[in-house]
Amino acid sequence: MRKKVTVIGAGNVGATAAMRVAEKGLADVVLVDVLEGVPAGKALDIAEAAPIEKHDCRIIGCTNQYADAKDSDVVIITAGIPRKPGMSRDDLLATNMGIMKTVVKEVAAVAPNAILIVVSNPLDAMCHVAFEASGFPKERVVGMAGVLDSARFRAFIAMEVNVSVENIHAFVLGGHGDTMVPISRYSTVAGIPVTELIAPDRLAAIEKRTREGGAEIVGLLKTGSAYYAPASGAVEMTEAILKDKKKILPCAAYLEGEYGINNLFVGVPVKLGDRGVEEIIEIKLDDKERKALQHSADTVKKLVEDMKRLSK
Ligand code: APR
Repeated sequence: MRKKVTVIGAGNVGATAAMRVAEKGLADVVLVDVLEGVPAGKALDIAEAAPIEKHDCRIIGCTNQYADAKDSDVVIITAGIPRKPGMSRDDLLATNMGIMKTVVKEVAAVAPNAILIVVSNPLDAMCHVAFEASGFPKERVVGMAGVLDSARFRAFIAMEVNVSVENIHAFVLGGHGDTMVPISRYSTVAGIPVTELIAPDRLAAIEKRTREGGAEIVGLLKTGSAYYAPASGAVEMTEAILKDKKKILPCAAYLEGEYGINNLFVGVPVKLGDRGVEEIIEIKLDDKERKALQHSADTVKKLVEDMKRLSK
């Protein structure tokens, strides 16, 4: 039987992710949105490209109904509003919290064994909403942020040293916001630590650009936020799960004591396979890195507390 991936939200990130899942031949795709016609239209458009792109994945779009999402293996959730210039991801909290709760309840009813990949922002807080609204075990709720932030870090390192992006491994930990923690010490170019190849001031500038990578694109687009790279991130995670790759990727995962953090979704390296988050990898951090991760976790915790207040 072919695998099934449902993508909630047929906007920029959702439609791009749906297209990539189909074009990589990973699974049949169901695209769901509140908008009339848009998910069906985009799905048909992607299906009509299939003969040229050479895949046989079926893709359909639905408005406000989840029956076709039944028994999905993976559900990618992009529903919500994106940022506009001057907005932080946290400004989306109240609106996206309500949307997340509604869609996750629908999804959990028809696809009780699915693995949820949360993409909507503010990411780490939205993972909490999805975790609570679904009632799924922590292994099956995971957030896409670290893959994107690390891809940005990798792209900037590759530009700096002028080598293939494929040679670059990099980690960004922490919440998906200004407090994220690029870990240069564990980032390498063909196995060589970047700290040996790039001068400290240049490296600091690259780390800063990574932290502000989302805002840089919002500032250029003006009408919304990034979507090609976010969609790629969600699809890399989807592929790792569907193919049971046991791939180590930085993702937002529910921590219960790991890294000294409790009951919070925060970005850390995890092993992704067909059971979802199969393991949380604890890498050794120095004092400065540990403090930066804790500070980032504290900002996530504040958002979670804000959500509790908003729900009252
Ligand atoms: N159910 C399904 N879809 C919904 C719902 C809902 N309850 N509410 C909103 N949507 C849809 C919108 O109709 C829209 O088509 O979600 C889609 C969001 O698409 P865009 O506005 O294009 O936003 P996008 O750039 O895709 O970002 C989506 O991902 O990266 C994050 O910060 C970003 O939170 C944002 C999310």
